[in-house]
Amino acid sequence: MSLERSSWKSNFGFLLAAIGSAIGLGNVWRFSYMAHQYGGGAFLVPYFVALLVAGVPIMIIEYGLGHREKGSSPLSFVNIGKKFESLGWWMPVVAMFGIMLYYSVVIGWCINYFFYSFNLAWGGDPQGFFFNQFLQLSDSAADIGGIRTPIAAATLFVWIMCWFICYRDIRHGIEKASVIFMPILFLLTIILVFWSLFLDGASDAIFNHYLHADWSKINLLSADPGVRSEAGKVWAAAFGQIFFTLSLGFGIMITYASYLPEKTDIGKNAFITCLVNCLYSFVAGFAVFGIVGFMAQSQGVPFEDAIKGGPQLAFVVYPQAISLLPSMNVLFGVIFFLMLVIAGLTSGISLIEAFACAITDKFDWPRGKVVTVVCVVGFLGSLIFTTRAGLYLLDIADHFITNYGLVIGGLLECLIIGWILKATVLRKHISRLGTIIPPFWDVLVKFITPVILVYLLYLSLAGDLAENYGDYSTNQLILYGVGSLLVCLAVALGLTFAPWNPEKLKRRHRPEDDELLT
Ligand code: ALA
Repeated sequence: MSLERSSWKSNFGFLLAAIGSAIGLGNVWRFSYMAHQYGGGAFLVPYFVALLVAGVPIMIIEYGLGHREKGSSPLSFVNIGKKFESLGWWMPVVAMFGIMLYYSVVIGWCINYFFYSFNLAWGGDPQGFFFNQFLQLSDSAADIGGIRTPIAAATLFVWIMCWFICYRDIRHGIEKASVIFMPILFLLTIILVFWSLFLDGASDAIFNHYLHADWSKINLLSADPGVRSEAGKVWAAAFGQIFFTLSLGFGIMITYASYLPEKTDIGKNAFITCLVNCLYSFVAGFAVFGIVGFMAQSQGVPFEDAIKGGPQLAFVVYPQAISLLPSMNVLFGVIFFLMLVIAGLTSGISLIEAFACAITDKFDWPRGKVVTVVCVVGFLGSLIFTTRAGLYLLDIADHFITNYGLVIGGLLECLIIGWILKATVLRKHISRLGTIIPPFWDVLVKFITPVILVYLLYLSLAGDLAENYGDYSTNQLILYGVGSLLVCLAVALGLTFAPWNPEKLKRRHRPEDDELLT
């Protein structure tokens, strides 16, 4: 059975869906705690460098490749060469099993907190509420404990919503949902940012902590090895964050671009997606730092004592700040958590789509059935993160999957496109469609970006070997961190070796490639 490939109704709809995929929990929840953990404003410098040397060039690769090959990531890579198919699988498998399984659970937390906001259920002790009452966090990652019913129920709801949206074809499912959700998301964010900016103490936190850079934190050339090693972690985290936030290295953007019409301006779409996404993170940072500043001032404590690192920023610091607001606390809480839920859902559907589309491309099974099976398996898999050790497990999985899984995917992508398909071929394909991509892009894709990514992987590895990530034991890191990478590898290889539907493998002959290469 061969169904006609779905398509977007409009370029605007595509852009909203792609921006919806990019803007997610990563922009508010992950970006702000990273910005804090890695030195406030100092983090912004590697972040924008990473955007320019990896984010934009790889976004152009992914859009260009998906558009040119009209296929999900495995189909696009197998078209380049049979031996590259496993990379094509690695990316959506990482999206689905490495990220979406825990991502859906964090959206589930946000749903719970959305309801808690109506009566400020966390009371006077948001920290105790989050760890002891809500998560009922076990003592260590080794003690899994039971499933937390409210979290599992909300996670089930997330998977049902994603299933409902992805089940339909692209224009009636993902595009329609994005056209409804994205304007609401922007509106809620604008309200929240303006509200936060005018709180007492906000401007101090924004200027002195968010926009103030401590250069020593990012000095890779320092004579002090300790400073160099810490700076290495900041740079590695910034690159990992760029991949995460732009949904790169997941196969998502390849898949989304495969539904674009023949005539479409790929370069312009890539720039708009990167710009809107990173601007969103930057602006949302004002809301986060602003409200923490307000909280610090209300409690008379230094900013450093008010803010907390790690994933609990949104679930401990924010609720505490919400409770301290002089008026309309409930409304503020509801808007904040609704914003996170919407941002999360529009990314969650893209994580599922990348994998579901890859399966339908390879086996030619009906989309609806594939999406149903993928969502059921996904929900069952995500239950591990709804247990009492869920926070530890997702923290470890997130660290390894983002810093290694996505970066390795991006690196191989650059090398295969740069050297095997040839950067010039893809650049000319994209430039013919509108915005001209300068030849310097070839140099980036072939040399500069891969060299930087290899260096970044080295920094991550050196950091992880020198010191255990977080407070976890080596065994826990190997089991849940390295283990999640190995599971993704096994699934990707298994899917690579499954036979293709022969119809799909008829590589289109491209006389223009021969012409471009001469
Ligand atoms: N790009 C998505 C996010 O930032 C996955 O949350």
